[in-house]
Amino acid sequence: MTAYNVKVNGRSHSIDVLPDTPLLWVLRDSLGLSGTKFGCGIAMCGACTVYLDGKPLRSCSFPVSAVGDREVTTIEGLSGREAAAVEPSGQEALVECENRDCLTAVRFPRTSRSAAR
Ligand code: FES
Repeated sequence: MTAYNVKVNGRSHSIDVLPDTPLLWVLRDSLGLSGTKFGCGIAMCGACTVYLDGKPLRSCSFPVSAVGDREVTTIEGLSGREAAAVEPSGQEALVECENRDCLTAVRFPRTSRSAAR
């Protein structure tokens, strides 16, 4: 086990895990942030997507030891335009999309609706 400091949703956390522990499991098991979902586990489906310094990242395939000083943002930490995009129906959709690309969908939900109009 190794101690890591990770900054998630604006808060710093100290955790003690193996270096190759996927960020997904740190978020869910160590920090209790269950909004980030497990789907395929091989960086294909996107259910585990978080932002790392504002860029989408598949957290199931990214070791916590590689996070460093960068900021992790999960669905719980979204604010502004992204948060508005998931309210009110988006949050319900996120709960239901265990095996789909939830956080990626958060980024573009209004685009598909706008295109349909
Ligand atoms: S669980 Fe990470 S991409 Fe599917």
